[in-house]
Amino acid sequence: MKAIILAAGKGTRLFPVTLTMPKPLVPVANKALIRYAIETLTGMGATEIGLVVNSLESPIRQALGDGVNTVGVPLTYIEQADPRGLAHAVKVAQPFLGDEPFIMYLGDNIFQDPMRELYTRFQQTGAGAAIALTEVPDPTRFGIAELDGDRIKRLVEKPKEPPSNLAIAGVYVFQPAIFDAIDHIKPSWRNELEITDAIQYMLDQGHTVIPYIVKGWWIDAGNADSIVLANQLVLEQLPYTPTRQDDPRIEGGSAVSHRVILGENTRIINSVIRGPVIIGDNVVVRDSYIGPYTSIGNDVIIESSEIEHSIVMSCCTIRNIQGRIDASLIAENAHVSRAQTRPAAYRFVLAENSVVQLG
Ligand code: TTP
Repeated sequence: MKAIILAAGKGTRLFPVTLTMPKPLVPVANKALIRYAIETLTGMGATEIGLVVNSLESPIRQALGDGVNTVGVPLTYIEQADPRGLAHAVKVAQPFLGDEPFIMYLGDNIFQDPMRELYTRFQQTGAGAAIALTEVPDPTRFGIAELDGDRIKRLVEKPKEPPSNLAIAGVYVFQPAIFDAIDHIKPSWRNELEITDAIQYMLDQGHTVIPYIVKGWWIDAGNADSIVLANQLVLEQLPYTPTRQDDPRIEGGSAVSHRVILGENTRIINSVIRGPVIIGDNVVVRDSYIGPYTSIGNDVIIESSEIEHSIVMSCCTIRNIQGRIDASLIAENAHVSRAQTRPAAYRFVLAENSVVQLG
């Protein structure tokens, strides 16, 4: 069975990180977001995955290649140079998808639920489409489904008076009838071809659309806060691992708790690490504290600083910071330090849309 992952967005809510790194490559617990999507899809039975990207030169292609050797499933890259909506992305992928049912997955979504049942129920019922839904506390901010028993009756975008609290999460299964539906819809007020309009068209044509209620958490990892939260939720699932007292990577007066994963050639010197924490290869942590829910990439140096509940990507340095760094997303090659010479001033080299909050 084929599946597509939509990964062609601009990622504006995550600027400046996404100016150089597409959102699906942002690491959560030291693994690119898109790898979670691929794992969920292969678990659901996908044997071939199309990645809708905004350029065939995308860094996603450079990272994952043909897929067979990197993620164990063949990947085909489909260009959507001008992302004009989720339904537009499906239309662009039609030649790849052919005339068979398929799964569509939004590349920045991450689920606790393996969702195998979503596809099996779709097959058993012979429905035109199946949609993953999840309960949300604030339904006015989402696309919401109105149910009639075990079917979806109507979809409404950001309703003022929500008919339910079931939001459309980022996984759908479709019969090829969706292509005809997309041909019949018009761009919305934001000039995008909306997948909800196409599904509503299918409903109006008499197709059955069934719901699947997602179990556990779902994160639409579109901004820094939700990515830091996804990191927390994934790290929470790390299995228990005791600290090895004789681990040569842990040196001189360090205390490393359980549920801490350390990479190769990493050194923890005179520092405290409290899990769940994941630290990559060739990292040096000296005279520092790393607290729960922190992911540190490869080739990072952290000295005389404290950090928790954060993501630090590869090749960063953090030195001599007073006060604790918290809830932060620090992209590759960023350097944060305290001035060692006078004046002891704040000094910034920031990209557009950077966020700095001093405590
Ligand atoms: P969005 O989060 O709606 O858009 P975005 O990723 O561009 O982010 P932002 O709003 O911050 O600018 O898109 C959800 C997913 O769908 C995301 O993984 C990108 C993908 N997508 C496409 O592949 N093609 C499209 O035309 C659109 C609108 C989104």
